[in-house]
Amino acid sequence: MKKLRNKDLISINYLTPEEVNLILNEAEMLKKGPRNTEYLKGKTLAMIFEKSSTRTRVSFQVGMYQLGGYAMFFSSQDLQIGRGETIHDTAKVLSRYVDGIMARTFKYQTILDLAKYATVPVINGLTDFDHPCQALSDLFTIYEKLGNLKGLTLSYIGDGNNVLHSLIQACVRVGMNINYASPVGYKPSDLVVKESLEVAKSTGSKVTEYNDAVSAIKDADVIYTDVWVSMGQEEEKEKRKKDLLAFQLNSDLMKKAKSNVLVMHCLPAHRGEEITDDVIDGPNSIVFDQAENRMHTQKAILKLLMS
Ligand code: CP
Ligand code: NVA
Repeated sequence: MKKLRNKDLISINYLTPEEVNLILNEAEMLKKGPRNTEYLKGKTLAMIFEKSSTRTRVSFQVGMYQLGGYAMFFSSQDLQIGRGETIHDTAKVLSRYVDGIMARTFKYQTILDLAKYATVPVINGLTDFDHPCQALSDLFTIYEKLGNLKGLTLSYIGDGNNVLHSLIQACVRVGMNINYASPVGYKPSDLVVKESLEVAKSTGSKVTEYNDAVSAIKDADVIYTDVWVSMGQEEEKEKRKKDLLAFQLNSDLMKKAKSNVLVMHCLPAHRGEEITDDVIDGPNSIVFDQAENRMHTQKAILKLLMS
């Protein structure tokens, strides 16, 4: 079986276009194949969460079970990390017990440190900076719905956050164009854009910034949005809601898009803020298929890293 070059899934930035395709093909194979297999029989995954989660936690846990393995959940408060034990020591100790570590952390640096000191694969389950499993899974969903990726345009509107960072890094690796529209102060990281433009040179992707939602979504095959207030930003809630108001995905905006455009959201959604009920529950929305595919894609990642 082909493997990923690195032992970890830290960032899409560390994946080649070929490796992204490998993950997508594996996800398709696993989704079409029998639900329960023994690819990870006898293997154990430790899952560490510094933040809340529904999809990531449940899909990794069920995914491990379906692959014949076992997953354990720990909030950071359950572990001695919560009382000051270092990431260095935690990574070394866990590596003596388990075959893989998946972590959702505030700082991206924590994932890097875990990967540096762990001798088993480490998977990034979201940080303040990025959300690689989400974006890989989203590519799989788009591929499943539209039959290809190259040349398609994904338009992201709203906060230039962790989800957008991984989407930009993912789209440029498969030849998709990405448009994004965010207000001043909410743009994605310049570094992510710069590095992704380099990758885009070889895949033909375009990365385009817009200042308004209507221009960004005009030619979109997929419109994507995410919450205005990410985990850890609760204190900025009122300001963010005001600043991002013009970037709401609602039926007025949908009228300016292609009639068959797909609507995506990584969930959880704050209905009535970044997206309205009629759009998220409307005929263009594929958000629940998108959520389901987290599990198939992560099973592919687990299999490629741990079997
Ligand atoms: N999309 C996503 O990662 O959802 P959770 O926060 O519920 O895991
Ligand atoms: N941007 C969101 C994504 C949640 C899956 C957050 O970080 O809270």
